[in-house]
Amino acid sequence: MTASGSDPRSSAGAGERRRAGGVCVEHAIEVLRPPPGLAHLRHDRAGELVLDPTPLTLDGDRIASFEADSGAAVRIDAAGCALLPGLVDCHTHLPFAGWRAEEYEQKVTGVPYEQIARGGGGIASSARALAQATDAQVLDQARALVAEMLAGGTTAYESKTGYGLSVPGEERAVRLGRELGADRVTGLFAHAVPQGYDADGWMDQVDALAASCDVDALDIYVESVAFTNEHLTRLGAIAARERVPLRAHVEQFNANRSVPVALAAGARSVDHLACLHPDDVAPLAAAQCAAVLLPGAEFLGAERVAPARDLADAGAICVLATDLNPGTSPVSSLPAIIGLAVRRYGWSVREALLACTLNAAWVLGLSGELGSLEVGKRADVVLLDTPVAHLPYRFGRNPVCLVIRAGEVAWVRPDAAWRIAA
Ligand code: NIG
Ligand code: FE
Repeated sequence: MTASGSDPRSSAGAGERRRAGGVCVEHAIEVLRPPPGLAHLRHDRAGELVLDPTPLTLDGDRIASFEADSGAAVRIDAAGCALLPGLVDCHTHLPFAGWRAEEYEQKVTGVPYEQIARGGGGIASSARALAQATDAQVLDQARALVAEMLAGGTTAYESKTGYGLSVPGEERAVRLGRELGADRVTGLFAHAVPQGYDADGWMDQVDALAASCDVDALDIYVESVAFTNEHLTRLGAIAARERVPLRAHVEQFNANRSVPVALAAGARSVDHLACLHPDDVAPLAAAQCAAVLLPGAEFLGAERVAPARDLADAGAICVLATDLNPGTSPVSSLPAIIGLAVRRYGWSVREALLACTLNAAWVLGLSGELGSLEVGKRADVVLLDTPVAHLPYRFGRNPVCLVIRAGEVAWVRPDAAWRIAA
C-alpha cells in the first residue's frame, strides 16, 4: 500500500487497529434515535427523535442491540457523552486540487465575483489546478480532508466531479473519486461550460459521459453563468435513462425558478436554495425530493439565507451538508455547519442533526444502511464529549472525541483514549 493508498477512515492511526468484535458503548447520557425503520423523516417530525440514554452493543461491523453486553471484548465508557450515528456529508466537491484563499480575500474586500472570474478565477482556476496536479497529489490532499472530516464525525460522504471541465478531465475525476473511496460518486459533468463549447454543445458531451462513466448520481449547476432550466430537464431525462438519481445546484445566487423544473424531472435533491421563491416552498416540502441546505457557502459567500425554517415547518426532507469545495465553502466540519444552521435557520439541534444523519443518507440512497443508530445498520457511531445542545452553542469547538466506523474505532481524540478498555 502506498502512502496515498489508504482510506484514512479505516483505522485509528499508524499501527493501531482495533477490530470491534463485540463492542459495548455504555454510560452515554444521550443517544440520538429516530422512530425505527424509516427511510427518511420529514422535518415537521424532527421532534420525534429521542435522546434517551441507553447502552449500545456492536457486533463486527453492525449495530447489534441497545443492551449492555457484559462479555464484550471492547468496552467504551461514554460517561457524559452524547452518541450520534456517524454523520453523512451528502454534498462535497472532493477531490479537488489546491485552494483559492486569495479569492476569498478579494470577495470579502468587495471585488465582485464576475471580476474574479474574468481574471481567471472561480471554477476555471480549480480546473487548471486539477489538470496540473498528479493523481497522487490530488488524492493526498483529499485524504487529508477526509481525515479532518472523520475527526468532525463524518463517516460517509459524497464526491463530485466538476473540476475536470473536459471529457478526459471528468473521466479522471470519476476515477479519482472512486480511488478516494467516497461512499457515492456524483457526476457533476454540467458544472461550467468548458472553453470551446457552448452550453448545448457541452450537454451532448455530458450525455455521453453519463452513459460511459460509473457514477451513482448526476448533478448540474443551474445559474446564469452555467446551465439553464432546459438543460436541467435534459439532464433529468439522461438520469432517468441511466437509472441514477438527479441532483441539482439551484437558486444559489438568483431565483431561476428551477425547483418546479427539478421536481418535474424527478430530482432526488435540490441543493443550495438561498434564493428559493416562496411559492416553491410548499411543492418542494410535499415532494419526495430533499432540500439540501449549505449554510457554509451562504455564510462565507454572504449569500442570502435559505428559507429553512419554512421548509422544516412545511415538512420538507431537509438536509445539511458542507458543500466542501475550494471556492464557495472550504469547510470540512459538519459540527460547524450544524452551528451555522441552528443560528441562521432558527433550527433546533434535533432538526440540524436529522439533516446530516438519516435524511442525508437518504439523499445518497444509503439510509437502509447508514444515518441512524438502528439494529442491523452499519456500526458508525460518534461520541460527543458534551450533550448535543453544546454542539451549536459552543460554536467553533469540535465536541467529537471518538468515532467508530463499520465497527472499528477509526478516530480517538488523545484525551479520550482512557474511554476504551480492551
Ligand atoms: O456548490 N455553485 C457551484 N458550484 C460550487 C462552487 C464551485 C466553485 O466555486 O469552485 C458550489 O458552491
Ligand atoms: Fe456544491
